[in-house]
Amino acid sequence: MTVRRARISGCGAYLPARQVTNDELALSVDTSDEWIVQRTGIKSRHLAAEDELTSDMALASARLALEQAGLDPADLDLIVLATTTPDNTFPATAVRVQAELGMNNGMAFDVQAVCSGFVYALAVANNFIITGQAQNALVIGAEAFSRILDWEDRSTCVLFGDGAGSVVLRADEGRGTSDDRGVLSTHLHSDGRYQDALYVDGGVGATGTIGHVRMQGREVFRFAVNKLAEVVDEALDANGLTAKDVRWLVPHQANRRIIDAMAKKLDLPPERVVYTVERHANTSAASIPLALAEVAADGRVEEGDLLLLEAMGGGFTWGSALVRW
Ligand code: ACO
Repeated sequence: MTVRRARISGCGAYLPARQVTNDELALSVDTSDEWIVQRTGIKSRHLAAEDELTSDMALASARLALEQAGLDPADLDLIVLATTTPDNTFPATAVRVQAELGMNNGMAFDVQAVCSGFVYALAVANNFIITGQAQNALVIGAEAFSRILDWEDRSTCVLFGDGAGSVVLRADEGRGTSDDRGVLSTHLHSDGRYQDALYVDGGVGATGTIGHVRMQGREVFRFAVNKLAEVVDEALDANGLTAKDVRWLVPHQANRRIIDAMAKKLDLPPERVVYTVERHANTSAASIPLALAEVAADGRVEEGDLLLLEAMGGGFTWGSALVRW
C-alpha cells in the first residue's frame, strides 16, 4: 500500500543584517551579558531595519527554499505563513509573499500560533498534501518581533530577535511506515486558560494600539518543560519509535535551558541538538525553519535522518512534528 507523504525538499533562511549583542543592549536597558547568557544562552540577535517588514524577510527566505527545491513559484499551490507580526492586520502576509513571488494561483494564508506557529503551519500544509489538496507547499515562519517589544521591559526585550525561514514541501509516496521520507506525524495542542501568561496588550483590531509583549516568565518556563516533554513522547509513541531513533532534535529556540531540559529527557547529547538561540535569540515562528535551513546548508542532516521538531508559545500553544529527511 502506498500513502501520500509531504517531503521537505528545500530550505531557506533570512536574517536581518543588523546584529545586536547583549553588551550593546545593556547600553540602553538595565541588563548585562552575564545575566542574559546565564538565564537564556542568548548572546546576540538580529533586528530588522526600520523599513524591513515581515513579508520582506519571508520572501527572501522563500526564494532560497524554492531554489533549493528546484521549483518555480508557479509550481506552488499553497503558501502557509506563520507569524505574530504580520505587515498589516489584513491582508495576510502570505498573499503579499504570493504576489511578490508571482504565484497567481493556488491559495495563501497566515497561521497565528506565536512561537508554535511554524509547527502549526507545517501541520496544516502537511494535511493539505496528504489529503491530496496540494502538491507543492511553501511553509514560512517569519517575524519582526522587535516591533512588539517593550524596549524598557528588560524581562522580555532581551529574549527575542527577527528573521524568517522557509521550507518547501512536495508530495511524495511512501509505504506508510516510519521509514518513509517526509513528515511522519504532527501533534498540535492549545490551552486558552493560559492566554494571560504570555500575550500582547493591544492589537490594531481590538484597541487601536500596537501593544507590547507581556510575559510571566517562570510560568512559561515551567509549562514549556512539562508540555514539551509530553508532546515529544506523544510523537514517538504514535510512530512506534523511541528517543534512540531521533538523529536530530530541532526545538523552538526560546531558551537554552528549556532546550537542554528536552535533550536531557530524550537522553540526547548536545551534538544531536540544533542550537541557534545563542546567535538568533527567540525568533518565534521563524526559529525552527531557521534552524532547519542551517543544518540543511551545512550538511549536518543527511538523507534518512529522523528529526524531532517541537515548540511551545503564547496561548498557550504547543506541538511537535516528526520528519524523516
Ligand atoms: N537583566 C537583568 N536582570 C533581569 C532581567 C534582565 N534582562 N530580566 C529580569 N531580571 C531580574 C528580575 O527583575 C528579577 O530581579 P529581582 O529578583 O530583583 O526581582 C530577577 O532578574 C529574576 O527574575 P525572574 O523573572 O524570576 O528570572 P528567571 O530566573 O525566571 O528568568 C526568564 C527569567 C529568562 C525569562 C525565564 O523565566 C525564562 O526563560 N522563561 C521562559 C520564557 C520564554 O522562553 N519565553 C519566550 C516566549 S515563550 C516560548 O517561546 C517558549
